[in-house]
Amino acid sequence: MNDSQPSILKQVPSHLQNISPYIPSKPDDILRKLFNAPFLHRMNNNENVLGPPQAAIDAIVRFDPVLIAQYPSGDSYYLRHRLSQLSGLSIDSFIIGNGANEGVNSIIHAFCKPGDNIITADKTFSVYEWVAGFSEIKTKLIPLKNNGFDSDAILAERDKNTKIIYLCNPNNPTGTYWNDKKLRNFLDMVHGEQIVVIDEAYAEYVAASDYPDGIKLISRYPNLVVFRTFSKMYGLASLRIGYLASSPMVADVIRRTSPVYSVNALAQAAAIGALQDDGSHIRNTRSMITESRHYMECELDKMGLEYISGEGNFILIHAPISDTLLYRRLMHHGYMVRPMTQFRFPNYIRVTFHQVQVMEGFLSVLPRCI
Ligand SMILES: Cc1ncc(COP(=O)(O)O)c(C=O)c1O
Repeated sequence: MNDSQPSILKQVPSHLQNISPYIPSKPDDILRKLFNAPFLHRMNNNENVLGPPQAAIDAIVRFDPVLIAQYPSGDSYYLRHRLSQLSGLSIDSFIIGNGANEGVNSIIHAFCKPGDNIITADKTFSVYEWVAGFSEIKTKLIPLKNNGFDSDAILAERDKNTKIIYLCNPNNPTGTYWNDKKLRNFLDMVHGEQIVVIDEAYAEYVAASDYPDGIKLISRYPNLVVFRTFSKMYGLASLRIGYLASSPMVADVIRRTSPVYSVNALAQAAAIGALQDDGSHIRNTRSMITESRHYMECELDKMGLEYISGEGNFILIHAPISDTLLYRRLMHHGYMVRPMTQFRFPNYIRVTFHQVQVMEGFLSVLPRCI
């Protein structure tokens, strides 16, 4: 910061001076005009193209608009009650947030002070590192091993200032996961010395029988915090609602830094509705993803393009050209993907699965764009 800058900018703390704000993408209609795109398929945010379960839609339609004049339940009482019934955990184990992202912030502020550090992977969901950065907390980034979190390296990297370990299971964007045995071994080795956060944003997409439900491990590991979101499988991304689960003791600390009234009443009602689904929404979504993944993998093999494909509703594709150039070219055809260079995957794009017909359209233009 130099002397010619307005004096108010001199008040900006030094650790914020080199941090860039997150720039969200422009609205779809503006992007369509900008790229002269015939239509726009959003394949950049891992949203569920099948939308929310019918029970969530019904809850939204039934919602009484009169309630909009009132503050919502400040701690999402009925949703926590429902989650407690479903999990067997205490209602005090749950904190509902304005998206799971709100929890990332609350946990860091609850357990870390400037000079402390968190540990996560170098190639994972970037919000952990971003929140730590603007909070004066150092992030130790551990390289992925075989595209997955490296448990031994994470354990070895801990020091006396390490307060939180962030795991993403399955990992966004590689789709790798730790199975039940590996996760339990890791938690045993941590020995309760750090908070371990397992971000299970894509849990409902995983059908594998050895995939661990972190919420079931909370009674055994009081230092464990699990994130879930209604943005992905449950198709409620726009309403911004997610939650964390932990032991009541840890939740009590996190609640001290969690905003109240941040979750609106419509989102709470829709989330309760979503949890009423009889399982058909999850089954239908999973079978769409399985079909599209199989189709994509076969076609990418034929095209000789490398990819990383695991769990979740996305696939990483290695492009023989710059990922931002490929993004722009695909946009002209109506396909919006996520360029991954800024997520430390140079020249990869991440593509969210849609129905197989849409994936056919995508693959019909891809060869012309690379
Ligand atoms: C791994 C992971 N965690 C959390 C989130 C954020 O979820 P929410 O929309 O509930 O804030 C995302 C969204 O992309 C994600 O990929």
